[in-house]
Amino acid sequence: MDPRPAPVRPDLVAPGTTPALFEPVLAAAELPEGSMRRVTRGDLDVLLAHTPDGIVAVDDRCPHMSAPLSIGTLDGCVVACPLHEGAFDLRTGEPVRMPTTGGLDPDGRYHPTWSPAGKDPKVDPPGLKAEARRLTRVRRFRYYPVRIVDGQIEVALPER
Ligand code: FES
Repeated sequence: MDPRPAPVRPDLVAPGTTPALFEPVLAAAELPEGSMRRVTRGDLDVLLAHTPDGIVAVDDRCPHMSAPLSIGTLDGCVVACPLHEGAFDLRTGEPVRMPTTGGLDPDGRYHPTWSPAGKDPKVDPPGLKAEARRLTRVRRFRYYPVRIVDGQIEVALPER
């Protein structure tokens, strides 16, 4: 099947993107299904991910603490962060696994620190760092509009 943009939630489209701002960022052939790439324009790092639903473009910054998701893993529509094991659904922008540090989900609900099965629960000594982890919020992705023109992936990026 030809590469195509994935549908995205309109309320999660990044502000300041308009069709006039589409620019080519990568040949579609360089992003086979199941792969991810970082493209950079100025100080903006964008993650391109080719999911079974199509191609999405989001900030290449984990919605938790900004690690580059492009060096994480992509499983279907779920991208996993290389830093704290957070995993996020690119169809919805929602976390499907909270980071090991716990914290607040996008709706402000608190999740305690988490350890993988078979490992001892992680102790989070009280103090300023624990408070910072507790108050760190996982956010939803911001999406950049995508289209495919003449075999090129084009992304509408905000004016810089
Ligand atoms: S920075 Fe990605 S899960 Fe923490």
